Amino acid sequence: METAEAGIAVERTEPQPLPEVSGGERERATFYATTPIFYVNAAPHIGHAYTTTLVDVVTRFHRLRGDDTFFLTGTDEHGEKVAKAAEKAGKTPQQYVDDVSGQFRATWDRLGIQYDEFIRTTEERHQKVVREVLQRVYDAGDIFYGEYSGLYCVGAERFVTEKELVDGTCPESDEPPEYRTEANYFFRMEKYRPWLRETLEENPGLIRPERYRNEVLAMLREPIGDLSISRPRKRVPWGIPLPWDDEHVTYVWFDALINYYSALVSKGIEERYWPHVEHFIAKDIVKPHGLFWPIMLKAAGIPLYQHLNVHGYWLVNERKMSKSLGNVVRPLDLQRKYGNDAFRYYLLRDMNFGLDASFSESGIAERINSDLANDLGNLLNRTLGMLARYRDGAVPAAAELEEVDTSLKDAFLALPAVVDARFRDLQFDRALEAVMEAVRHANKYISETQPWELAKDPAKAARLDTVLNTCVESLRCASILLEPVIPGKARELRKQLGIKRAPFALDSAGQWGLVPPGTQTAPAGPLFPRIDLEALEKAMAEPQPEPLEHKAEISIHDFGHTELRVVTVEKAEPHPNANKLLVLTVRMGPETRTVVSGIRDHYQPGDLVGKKLVLVANLQPITLRGVRSEGMILAAEDDDGRLSLVTLEQDLPDGSEVH
Ligand code: MSP
Repeated sequence: METAEAGIAVERTEPQPLPEVSGGERERATFYATTPIFYVNAAPHIGHAYTTTLVDVVTRFHRLRGDDTFFLTGTDEHGEKVAKAAEKAGKTPQQYVDDVSGQFRATWDRLGIQYDEFIRTTEERHQKVVREVLQRVYDAGDIFYGEYSGLYCVGAERFVTEKELVDGTCPESDEPPEYRTEANYFFRMEKYRPWLRETLEENPGLIRPERYRNEVLAMLREPIGDLSISRPRKRVPWGIPLPWDDEHVTYVWFDALINYYSALVSKGIEERYWPHVEHFIAKDIVKPHGLFWPIMLKAAGIPLYQHLNVHGYWLVNERKMSKSLGNVVRPLDLQRKYGNDAFRYYLLRDMNFGLDASFSESGIAERINSDLANDLGNLLNRTLGMLARYRDGAVPAAAELEEVDTSLKDAFLALPAVVDARFRDLQFDRALEAVMEAVRHANKYISETQPWELAKDPAKAARLDTVLNTCVESLRCASILLEPVIPGKARELRKQLGIKRAPFALDSAGQWGLVPPGTQTAPAGPLFPRIDLEALEKAMAEPQPEPLEHKAEISIHDFGHTELRVVTVEKAEPHPNANKLLVLTVRMGPETRTVVSGIRDHYQPGDLVGKKLVLVANLQPITLRGVRSEGMILAAEDDDGRLSLVTLEQDLPDGSEVH
């Protein structure tokens, strides 16, 4: 041990009890934040992940402040678009929405999103509130029956005007609209235009940033017309019937927007949270949120939201993500590759709220290397290394601070207020930059104070203590301020510092000296391993395999409902009425079953007799072209349609269970 060799007496104090941190003067505020509820016609991509991560970060920050917070997300499951997607997938709408909604939830769980509630518009608790709101507005005379002809875009689920079209297609969906005439119920939106205009003029921050408020104000300068809020049930059966006329279902946007309110009502917490609601959306859905929603609220006698916070788009290769362009980026692929926290940090750090941002994997890698590995990881690594070398891994008490120490301390202590203000102004990238600037300051502090020189001189032991202590305090403060964005790594950092139980509220990031002297630190482990940029660029130059499309996650319990068993093929014959099918007679222990299987193009009946295969034994029997099939044989199929039956690697008796 270097300290002992140098003959420096280091007093070992036992870790002190943790100091109390006062809650500060601030009153506990309330904060309710929402993401859009996402359509279930596609799996989640990084655009959905951005808004959801952002709201997660913001609510985690408010929790750190000690605020009473509520975070709502969910899925938007009704309408023509979803019904069509279900049909394409060969499922009933309900099966289909259950699957995709499950995929959203599973993705958010894997990304560590701590939502308080997940609402689905197909849930009765939501539909009930939608019916109540509709009835209220109808009774007040703000809904009437009428006929309408115009251009209808299925993708955007609304009538569009000629003026909105770009090269004949709807900019929201990139699809050409179709001409439709429909008898529908209309919501008297135009009547409220002067009110909304005035409201927006009086509340400049209501829709922010400014550019989106201006967008809505521009819409309000001309008549906005009345909104068609129903669809004939005959044409769109997948929706909520109007309470007074069940020949019509509710228009998806009228249904969906109410989720923000219905989720609270269903839990009886609307009084507690509604007055504090903050919506987070991207620029694509400003019109429904900036125009329809405030007017709906007004007509239903529900107070307006606090703010509509609108961010830009993540572009991939300068283009909007789309399946047809093949540039859709999946969040779980990135999470697997770079880790959750690094991915979250990139999303927050590299988008200037309100503007579009350009996504690239090399961008993530560069961010990791510069901010997370070089700045933060390095500070931790150096600090732990020096503590191990000079102080046996124990945090020393600080002696009197010099100017260089105070300057670093002050930089950190100023941060909670700075981060708070930047968050309020939606400048999340700048909030992170402010923290990282202080982290860089701490690295510079080490270079300036040269602890390795201090360690050589026994007379400077107290000075070295102060420098080491100052580094530890800096890291403690950084770990709190960064927790909302990198929760996992912040925890790991604190674990390595041995301060897992030190105070963690935001206020404690504004106080110095909270690490008890004597705290034992752990040996340094890399917090964020550096990414080899060259190797990454090389890998990206090679053709990327198409990512797999996964089904909704199931539990082991769900899987347990499937009964799989080994069977022996006793007989195999061509199906009398279908040239792609074989009829197999299989033995399963004491039972014999008939199974119709679509493998005739791949297997000769003679080759199958005597083979051991795997059967889904509890599948409902089905009659296929006149022959009853009592189960399904398992086979693998590749992208080129080649087929291989699932067999056993060792000979086990038929009837054996497969799990
Ligand atoms: N179901 C409606 C919303 C109803 S809210 C009452 C809907 N769903 S959506 O699935 O299309 O989601 C749109 C939202 O996804 C955007 O507002 C934004 O939050 C997110 N994003 C989709 N693509 C995005 C990017 N490329 N970049 C950033 N966010 C994006 O509209």
